[in-house]
Amino acid sequence: MYTNQALRIHAYGGPEVLQRDDIPMPVPGAGQVLIRVKAAGVNGLDWKIRDGLVRDAFPLPLPAVLGIELAGEVVATAPDAARFKTGDCVMGPLGGLGAYADFTVVDEAKLCLIPAALGDVEAAALPVATLTAWQVLRAAGAPRPGQKILIHGAAGGVGGFAVQFAKAAGATVVATAAGASRAHVLGLGADAVIDRLAERFEDKVDGIDLVIDLVGGETLDRSWAVLAADGAIVSTAAPDIAQRAPAGRRGVWFMMQPDAVQLAQIAGQVAAGSLKSTIAETIGRSGLADAIERNKQGHAPGKIVLDLTL
Ligand SMILES: NC(=O)c1ccc[n+]([C@@H]2O[C@H](COP(=O)([O-])OP(=O)(O)OC[C@H]3O[C@@H](n4cnc5c(N)ncnc54)[C@H](OP(=O)(O)O)[C@@H]3O)[C@@H](O)[C@H]2O)c1
Repeated sequence: MYTNQALRIHAYGGPEVLQRDDIPMPVPGAGQVLIRVKAAGVNGLDWKIRDGLVRDAFPLPLPAVLGIELAGEVVATAPDAARFKTGDCVMGPLGGLGAYADFTVVDEAKLCLIPAALGDVEAAALPVATLTAWQVLRAAGAPRPGQKILIHGAAGGVGGFAVQFAKAAGATVVATAAGASRAHVLGLGADAVIDRLAERFEDKVDGIDLVIDLVGGETLDRSWAVLAADGAIVSTAAPDIAQRAPAGRRGVWFMMQPDAVQLAQIAGQVAAGSLKSTIAETIGRSGLADAIERNKQGHAPGKIVLDLTL
């Protein structure tokens, strides 16, 4: 008999609201598979939900299991779910919550097989960050060679892939990051890195065709000044970007869409070594509450990943 331990929030608040609870084993519904979760990526949405910042946009019955992406093993399938079989190792974004548990159910359409060369922790670092980076670069139109792209938050999970995808598309990439992350971001291929703590990016760049805003706040508000006349800002961090855009400026709010085909292609690139994935740290379940807080306050470059086998 298996138990299913989940990491749930019981109220909105700080790290203290996250608790470990035994919960019932979920049953896969139509088109779903039951996953034994091996690893799960930590994301900004974890603390935004925990703090209650998105409670109006995503009303949530509490207690709620957090976690929006995973890697794990298929242990059961719904009668109409045929893409995977028991024992398959899969990865994906959930398109919802529930990854911080020993077992969870996921729409099989959102998942892909983990390439043989990748472990569970490596796989769990990829779904949200890679799909967001790939899609956000295309949200205002296809990237084109010679385009000047400014990426805010380039040292983070999404930013690290956005830098690489933008360079692969032939763009000139300027990134903002803390000085301590400069070498990391240059190593991903950025043409220039502006130390966000020591310099003002608007003093350093102008004529930017596309700003990828992974930060929001005043970083976004200061970014309109560096745009080319027909430039655009796409944000993953400021849902109200359109209202904040000055007259005549184009601001696009972006939300990642699960895409199993795209994810499989990108994971294949990581497995082949042609795309770099950086894991900032791997934590066990006792370290999750603090890790979500570090994701909010600042962390080493790359992704924090929860290893549920620890
Ligand atoms: N809408 C969507 O579908 C979607 C999907 C994924 C993520 N997101 C959101 O997108 C944002 C980025 O996600 P992520 O997973 O990449 O987060 P992350 O891993 O925490 O990375 C953010 C990075 O931004 C850097 N940073 C912090 N303040 C900055 C500033 N003022 N200027 C420039 N860089 C700054 C930090 O690195 P340094 O300290 O080294 O500079 C930090 O590591 C989060 O708000 C997340 O919730 C949205």
